[in-house]
Amino acid sequence: MEKIQVTLRECNYPIFIGTDLFSKHTSFWPLTSGDSAMLITNNRLADLYLDVLVNKLTQFGIKVDHLVLPDGEQYKSLVILEQVFSALLSKNHGRDTTIIAFGGGVIGDLSGFAAASYQRGVRFIQVPTTLLAQVDASVGGKTAVNHLLGKNMIGAFHQPASVVINVDYLNTLPPREISSGLAEIIKYGIIFDATLFKWLENSIESLLALEPHTLMYCIRRCCELKAKVIAADEREKKGGQRTLLNLGHTYGHAIETHMGYGNWLHGEAVAAGIMMAVYAARRLGQFSHIDTERVKSLLLRAHLPIKGPETMPSTAYLTHMIRDKKVISGQLRLVLPVSLGHAVTYAEVENDIVIQSIEDCRI
Ligand code: NAD
Ligand code: GLY
Repeated sequence: MEKIQVTLRECNYPIFIGTDLFSKHTSFWPLTSGDSAMLITNNRLADLYLDVLVNKLTQFGIKVDHLVLPDGEQYKSLVILEQVFSALLSKNHGRDTTIIAFGGGVIGDLSGFAAASYQRGVRFIQVPTTLLAQVDASVGGKTAVNHLLGKNMIGAFHQPASVVINVDYLNTLPPREISSGLAEIIKYGIIFDATLFKWLENSIESLLALEPHTLMYCIRRCCELKAKVIAADEREKKGGQRTLLNLGHTYGHAIETHMGYGNWLHGEAVAAGIMMAVYAARRLGQFSHIDTERVKSLLLRAHLPIKGPETMPSTAYLTHMIRDKKVISGQLRLVLPVSLGHAVTYAEVENDIVIQSIEDCRI
């Protein structure tokens, strides 16, 4: 097992990465015998893993209730959040309870927001089961639910007490979801780490095949990068490093909202959004043709889209993008790549450039 420590101003927490992690009591850290917990998951994961996990927790003396939610991005909503609060209250969970988020980014974001707001905040543990959540969503304390008018629009920053990444869970993840996770990994390479990008060019097929050493290296590297970013800028302050993690997301969130949550996977929308950001950077004279082709080729090899949905008009993006959380005084701000391993936030991107960048992807 490997351990990465996240060190923030007001709290520190470990990220454990390994295989067969839940055979050991320590993996449920900081839970100890006698503690109460509410495990939140969805129906798909419950069928696969719930019994084993609940048995382990019980065996280690933890008093655990569980709640099984419907599976899907469309259920990352205020309506479902209310069901979470009802379950916690009806089982008399107090401020000393711990919420265990067992699932992908949907369960992690929703359960994290429940933990942030239930009785003004309770402890929570992230147990991410998708590649996307293991490399990104489970670390950093961003929690949220969607609104029909915008993705992740209602939420809070609330850091987990620990993140437990059991790589074995990826063996049951469908290939399309593996690709979705690869979009966020490629994103890290483009923004921060040209060496990681090069490594991905050499290793993408091994990752798709879930080769264990390749996966471990990649998850560890992404968690290290994310831990470093949030240590420098926990709450995404204006001009801070964390903003850069939104590369491709302003376009991507527009796609997810416009198409109806769950129709385009988050990573698929981000992949198309990365290509749009690359073309916007090209239009501003900031990114080379060679690097553009390298990004396009890597996304394609990861089985990811490099253009938006055919049915979504380019002007429809702007309607959603203007509600983006990076907008200040009505001014759109976009994260754009400058070179592989380096990205910046642009405060003044004209609407024409946005539209052209979407059109460039369609050619
Ligand atoms: P997801 O949570 O919907 O999981 C994808 C699918 O895989 C679901 O059907 C799920 O039931 C299934 N699944 C999960 N683990 C499985 C396993 N081990 N075996 C078999 N099936 C499994 O999607 P996701 O890609 O994990 O997360 C996307 C969400 O994460 C989006 O809502 C996005 O906004 C959010 N996100 C949050 C952050 C953050 O910092 N908080 C960062 C990135 C993304
Ligand atoms: N996934 C973006 C962030 O955590 O800031």
